[in-house]
Amino acid sequence: MSAKLDPAILSVGCFDGDLDLFESQYAVPGGVSYNSYVILDEKVAVLDTIDPRKTEEWLSNLDQALAGRTPDYLVVHHMEPDHAGSISALAEKYPGMTLVGNAKTFPMLSAFTGRDFEGRTLTVKEGDQLSLGAHTLTFYMAPMVHWPEVMVSFEAASGTLFSADGFGRFGSADPDAPWTDEARRYYLNIVGKYGVQVQALLKKAAGLDIKAVCPLHGPVLTGDALALALEKYSLWSRYIPEEKGVLVAYASIHGNTARAALELADLLRAQGLAVEAMDLAREDWARAVAGAFRYSGLVLAASSYDAGVFPPMAMLLLRLKSKGFRNRAVGLMENGSWGPTAMKAMLAELEAMKGLNILEPKITIRSAATDENRAQMKELAQAMAGAL
Ligand code: FEO
Repeated sequence: MSAKLDPAILSVGCFDGDLDLFESQYAVPGGVSYNSYVILDEKVAVLDTIDPRKTEEWLSNLDQALAGRTPDYLVVHHMEPDHAGSISALAEKYPGMTLVGNAKTFPMLSAFTGRDFEGRTLTVKEGDQLSLGAHTLTFYMAPMVHWPEVMVSFEAASGTLFSADGFGRFGSADPDAPWTDEARRYYLNIVGKYGVQVQALLKKAAGLDIKAVCPLHGPVLTGDALALALEKYSLWSRYIPEEKGVLVAYASIHGNTARAALELADLLRAQGLAVEAMDLAREDWARAVAGAFRYSGLVLAASSYDAGVFPPMAMLLLRLKSKGFRNRAVGLMENGSWGPTAMKAMLAELEAMKGLNILEPKITIRSAATDENRAQMKELAQAMAGAL
């Protein structure tokens, strides 16, 4: 299927509804789209290929869009295999096609494919232009959004930014599907560590008259959807919470820590705060990472385990640290029937994160919450409300 953008720009990507894990780690119950675009002008440019899981379907989409024409250029914005995985197939099909990338693109291409494309490449740098006729692509480097070789391109005649992974979303490319939750889960887990680099790209984008953004995953963004996406990216890349509220993330072995965490969640709600509670042992951890960034407050409640913290919580903390989690108020609750160790393990991880306000009291439960614990929870809920 190909959907029309500007009359000369066609979308030829594919939807993958059967993928178990994106990048072998992220659950995608709503699937994921691998987007690819074609500009039909005096010259024909294909903008990115797609994951090899869908090469045949994509080539068929492309044939339909090309309507007998032959691509002059393949622009490679990003070398990750979900976009570059069909380059060899296209290069074989169109031996006269020139591959357009930057100085970092082609060594990666050779490393991934084991092939030498010498004599078929055009190397571009910041600000270089590629004229196709009425349409001209200007290239901007976007290193680490999400790999070092990433670049974006802006087509001025249509006001279209081809944004690589930027502004992508898990799920389909349907522009009517809700954007924010799956875009947040995508951004904070995949690009979240690189806020500074995303800010640099947003600064470049601010100087362009952008009417449409064409990412490599999810829907084309225009109008209000584009404004919303820019607003969210501005917050996410600066590690600023979207909402005054609290994620209560709990990791419980037999249910007592969970019950205490849910009681604390109710006490936080009683303080007038928006609260979301997540069972880290059962819910998608990538959603928990996104939730932690979404709110201004975070409560971690965990059982002790093997002289440390129960692994589902250890996993969340590992992810938060690697994604640059910072600048939030944090409440802590541990459980341990003998020699509780979760608090010490959680604090050790949190120490490596910037700008956290660790609230008092830090609560220790011994097997099941007592009335004394409940009084402490009330105090912690008040402290959280005061801190946000
Ligand atoms: Fe969608 Fe970084 O690849």
